[in-house]
Amino acid sequence: MSGGVRAKVRVELGERGYDILIGEGLLARAGEFIKPLTGRSRVFIVVDENVRQLHGAILEAGLRSAGLTPHFVSVPPGEGTKSMARLDELLTDLIEHGAERDDLIVAFGGGVVGDLTGLAAGLLKRGARFVQIPTTLLAQVDSSVGGKTAINSRAGKNMVGLFHQPVLVLADLDVLDTLPARERAAGLAEVAKYALIDDPVFFDFLETNAAKLRSGDKATLAEAVRVSCSSKARIVAIDETEQAERALLNLGHTFGHALERANEYRPTLLHGEGVGAGMAMAMRYSVQLGVCQGQDAVRADRLLRALGLATRIPDLGGGPYAAEELLAHMAHDKKARNGRLTLILSKGIGQAYIQRDADISPLRDFLAKEVSGAS
Ligand code: GLY
Repeated sequence: MSGGVRAKVRVELGERGYDILIGEGLLARAGEFIKPLTGRSRVFIVVDENVRQLHGAILEAGLRSAGLTPHFVSVPPGEGTKSMARLDELLTDLIEHGAERDDLIVAFGGGVVGDLTGLAAGLLKRGARFVQIPTTLLAQVDSSVGGKTAINSRAGKNMVGLFHQPVLVLADLDVLDTLPARERAAGLAEVAKYALIDDPVFFDFLETNAAKLRSGDKATLAEAVRVSCSSKARIVAIDETEQAERALLNLGHTFGHALERANEYRPTLLHGEGVGAGMAMAMRYSVQLGVCQGQDAVRADRLLRALGLATRIPDLGGGPYAAEELLAHMAHDKKARNGRLTLILSKGIGQAYIQRDADISPLRDFLAKEVSGAS
């Protein structure tokens, strides 16, 4: 099948609920989906320069054909854009171009653009509505859904942010055609996360289809995006502001964020790459704690590698990754309190659980082994 909406997933949040449309050719029809959401003819599009070059013309035509006039605001690509300085610049740019609270802001890009734009929209004149048009697999299956918006601060990743839900997510699978293999693999880490959290059937699907997913087969990716978004929508609807269940979505993230921070958020370690290795580490740590069978950790490791991800610290890009530094970053994670941490651990494939108040000290030996590649 080519063209059209393949799946519509609803994020059930009452009057803040919204649809995620997944399919092909959606950029060219963006105006049709967006126009009913705004009383204005102008829409602000925040985009990174790479995405604008690749897909800007199609989106622009899609908006204009519905009578909408896009005003593009470009931001530089890369994690460095999630900064206070860029947030200030973006807000100033929007305000100087006359943006009002009833304007619609569109985040057109990967997770960086989505996180920055969502935050800017949430702050603009005390809150404007926004649409997510994610252009990476990672953003389509994770960051564009669920309303977490943030920038980084010197104190750590995503330390300054808001819960601000979009009013629509348009996940056009066609944009994945231009995605470099490395970015696709990084997105597949977040896809695998949903299987590892609570969906062993999806895990089987991913095992069977790993090669197709890795090579970018459209139909298989479409199914992976649909299942992932459904899973995320379900968890967000239960626990929008992460009082409990939503923390499961952080599987692999406490380890992953520590790796990313040790690498100073450089592009040599993508977020999804950190999460991929972080999930393999969370499984191995669960085995060390005696709560997970070794064979499940091995199976998870094998799937992640089949999806194109490194699962061992010595195989990761960037670095150096020193155990003491990783431990210090974990201790300062926003989920840490008084030397105790909330960790997402696993009892097996599809059996992740939230371990509150975990002692940080046993992690020291574990991280030393991980860094040396001995575990
Ligand atoms: N990416 C984790 C969450 O949205 O909660």
